[in-house]
Amino acid sequence: MNRIFFPVSPLAAPTSRRLFGIAFLALSLGAAGAALGHGDVTPQEVDTKGLPDLGEAPLMENPFRPGNEHAEYHDLAVEVGERGYGGNCAVCHGIQAMSGGLTPDLRQLEEWDDEFYLERVVKGTERGMPSFRENLDQTAIWAIKSYIESVTP
Ligand code: HEC
Repeated sequence: MNRIFFPVSPLAAPTSRRLFGIAFLALSLGAAGAALGHGDVTPQEVDTKGLPDLGEAPLMENPFRPGNEHAEYHDLAVEVGERGYGGNCAVCHGIQAMSGGLTPDLRQLEEWDDEFYLERVVKGTERGMPSFRENLDQTAIWAIKSYIESVTP
């Protein structure tokens, strides 16, 4: 009867702030998903038919970029990449790679970030970027990069 009841324990404060952050992120992601007509982040297969198989050895540069090794496939890569981006990245990184501010804006990657881009997509990070190692091959990953470059002003 005479126990003191704290409506909010002092220890709970940081946790609830963290939870608020997570709920906020989930809400924003949900909104992005709804706008695209799907609310989940289940990786989508990317059909790379017509593009060369880039193999497993990591390339240091986007091979489809004009001037690079497979530049002749650039336009097809952008098309394939648009579907791949829509199905795998847009839910978090925004439609046409326009970030809403909660995730890095991928249009800000520079040419010399190519190696970093590949590594991030393959490995992911512990801060919310999933690994696509199991779902996207290198051809799909660079096609997606070509699409991102095509919508970069
Ligand atoms: C579930 C949400 C989510 C999905 C889906 C997602 N990302 Fe990310 N991505 C993030 C977050 C969050 C970060 C920031 C992670 C960090 O700083 O550790 C990030 C970071 C990155 C980075 C590093 C950018 C920088 O400037 O640091 C790249 C590159 C990237 N994502 C590419 C992609 C691509 C390409 C796809 C689709 C194949 C994708 N991401 C799908 C959430 C996501």
